[in-house]
This record gives sequence, C-alpha cells and structure tokens, in this order.
Amino acid sequence: MKNLAILGSTGSIGRNALNVVDANPTRLKVVALAAGDNAMLLAEQAQRYQPAIVAMATSDGVDRLRQAWGAAPRPRIDAGQDGLIAVATHPDVELVICASSGTAALEAVVAAIDAGKAIALANKEVLVMAGALVMEAARRRGVAVLPIDSEHNAIHQCLHGRDASEIRRLILTASGGPFRDFSRDALERVTPEEALRHPTWQMGRKITIDSATMMNKGLEIIEARWLFDMPPDRIEVVIHPQSVIHSMVELSDGSVIAQLGVTDMRLPIQYACSYPDRWESTLPSLDLVRLGRLDFLSPDMDRFPCLRLAYRAARSTGTLAVAMNAANEIAVEAFLDGRLSFAAIPRVIEQTMDAHDEERVESVEVVRRADGQAREYARELGRRLELKVLRSST
Ligand SMILES: NC(=O)c1ccc[n+]([C@@H]2O[C@H](COP(=O)([O-])OP(=O)(O)OC[C@H]3O[C@@H](n4cnc5c(N)ncnc54)[C@H](OP(=O)(O)O)[C@@H]3O)[C@@H](O)[C@H]2O)c1
Repeated sequence: MKNLAILGSTGSIGRNALNVVDANPTRLKVVALAAGDNAMLLAEQAQRYQPAIVAMATSDGVDRLRQAWGAAPRPRIDAGQDGLIAVATHPDVELVICASSGTAALEAVVAAIDAGKAIALANKEVLVMAGALVMEAARRRGVAVLPIDSEHNAIHQCLHGRDASEIRRLILTASGGPFRDFSRDALERVTPEEALRHPTWQMGRKITIDSATMMNKGLEIIEARWLFDMPPDRIEVVIHPQSVIHSMVELSDGSVIAQLGVTDMRLPIQYACSYPDRWESTLPSLDLVRLGRLDFLSPDMDRFPCLRLAYRAARSTGTLAVAMNAANEIAVEAFLDGRLSFAAIPRVIEQTMDAHDEERVESVEVVRRADGQAREYARELGRRLELKVLRSST
C-alpha cells in the first residue's frame, strides 16, 4: 500500500489521480487532499476517501468545506500555504502527487522533499520557476521526482536504465494545439472559446490556453531541462498532431526510442505511482492500424513566439523563466477574461522578460520576489495593451 497526498485533487489531473486510486484499491491509499476553491467537491472526495487531513486555499474555502460537510466526523482541515505544506508533509504520506495549477505548490513541494517524500509532478510551474533548487534538494535528500506530464513521463520511460552519456537529445512531441494551421492574421482574432477547444487532450483552462499559444511546450522544455539535466539545445520540439507518440529520446548511436499510448492521463499517473514496477490497467490498447499514420512537422516560432521565448528562458540559469511564467499567467488570465487579444499574450511575456533584472535562483524567496515583480510589470503592460485594443475596436 502506497500512501498518497494529492495537491489539487479537484482539478483535471487530481480527479484522474483519484480514478487511478479507484482502479488500484489494494495498492494506493489517499491520506491527504488539498484543493483551491471547490469546497463541495473536496467535501465529497474527503467523505469517500477518508483522508487524515485536507486543505483549502483560503479560510473562506475552509468555512464552505465545513458547511458542506455537516455534522459527520471530520479530518483535520487547514488553509492556505501552511495547509498545502501540512498536506504534503503529513507523516503518513509517502508520495505527493502535485496536481495543483499555478505556482502555489512551490513551498509545499520543497517541504515535502525535505521531509523525504517522493514527488509525482504534474504541475509544470514548480520546475519552471525553481528547477535548480527543487532538483538539487531532491538529489541531496535522495528522493525521486517522477514526472506525470505525459511528455516527460514518456522520456522517463525511454531513459529507464540508461546512462546520461548514451543520450544525444530529447524530442518533445506537441499536438500543435487548435490553431496549428492558422495564419498570423487569423491568430489575432482567436477567442477564448475557440482556444479552449483542444483537439486531443481534456485539460484545465490555463494549460489549454498554453497549448494553443504553444507556451505549454515552452514550459515543458524548461521542465525537461531540469528533470533530465539536459541543456536546452539538446531538447527539440516536433509537432505531432495525433499525440500518440508522447515523446522520444535519441541515443548516441542514432537509435530513437519512443513511448506511445492512448491519450489518457491515467496512464502516466499510474506509472508515476507504480514506478519502478508496472501495474495492469484497464485502458484500451493502442489501435495502430486504425490510426493509420503518424505525422511530424517543425514548429513555427514566428507564428508561435512563446516557444522562442521559452528557449530563451531555458538558456538562463537565473530568474528569467520565473518572469516568463509570471507574465504568461497574467496574460492568459486577461485573455480568458476578454481583456487581452490572443496575439498580445506573447507580447506581454516578451516585454516583461526584456525588462526583468535577472537574479540567481538561490532560494524560494528570490523566486517569489522575481515572480511578484514580473506579475506587477505584466499587469501594467496588459492594462496598456487593453486600452489599445479598446481604442482600436471603437
Ligand atoms: N490536465 C492535464 O492533462 C495536464 C497534463 C500535464 C500537466 N498538467 C499540469 O498539471 C497542473 C494541473 O492541471 P489541471 O489541468 O489539472 O488544472 P485544473 O483542472 O485547473 O486543476 C487545478 C487544481 O489546482 C487546485 N488549486 C488551484 N490553486 C490552488 C491553491 N492555491 N492551493 C491548492 N490547490 C489549488 C484547483 O482547485 P479548485 O478546482 O478547487 O479551485 C484544482 O484542484 C498544471 O500545472 C498543468 O500544467 C496538466
């Protein structure tokens, strides 16, 4: 029996993780759950899985959770940053599934590593912001950081048992998102509703927009750089519209090892839970004949500048990636609220990066300071671009 904490249990990955628990009742047990705002769903999950501790992002959320709960005996309930840390470091927890969106889980993941817990990481922002710190802490403490993101999970499977000297490059596949074939002009007019329709994956709103701008792949380049200790110029992105090859590794003799599978996040989640073993799963087999073909294309960094910006951030060992990530979150939020055009997202990010004073990533405090400054800058920039949008539409 492996005891789990799930950060972000009410989200897309969190709910899939609970499906994996349901499919493996003799192997996995939920000990701790954390959510952001969805008190009703967390109450349902906690009643079903009976964790020892739960946490919500705010004390208002905790009040709603208590109301939803009623009179039945309750687990310990915590709130905010301390709540997330308490969930991730609960003494009974062995594996922390980090499936919360955004940057909130950074301190909790670092605390869990310090407490000797293994980490199964779906969240990209933690490594994008503080990859050097997190991976160094994991090495020092001797704990595993197992990727759930399907591309990194695929690479982890392809690398299994291989020495770093055997690896020539990593090849990340990308669906290309819903606007793969759109012209620059057409990209200017894209709406949030269109951007939220991903062709192959069902995901949360933020990551779906990141897929449409290709910033998602950019974040993955930075994630791969830290997870696999690989310089960015040896990480290549290939558009593969069918999303059947989840990623590949080229070895020093030119052989390419790929991991293929159905597009279902329960597969990488289960692998992260079972590693180094493999468990049976009820997911359907891949029907290659029905699939018929696999296509590959080069990404277009002119139409999708977020990818170029991410390579630039990946080459820096300082806080440039923190600034990029912060500006992206602000810009995506403004786009989803209808305040910013789709094409303005990379503009906000690039200008924020240009203005950023880089620092060495020495501590979580440095990361948080850079994150706060970049958010403020991007917000102001977003407001100015908003005004221009309003003027040009009147
Ligand atoms: N979805 C995928 O297929 C996929 C694939 C690869 C990687 N990822 C990565 O995995 C992460 C989660 O993605 P998702 O698609 O599952 O997102 P999502 O559906 O939006 O879910 C986000 C989860 O995070 C929780 N949350 C937000 N702020 C929080 C806070 N301050 N404290 C605690 N919990 C908080 C949310 O809680 P409430 O709902 O209660 O507010 C929710 O449970 C992202 O970093 C994403 O890039 C996702």
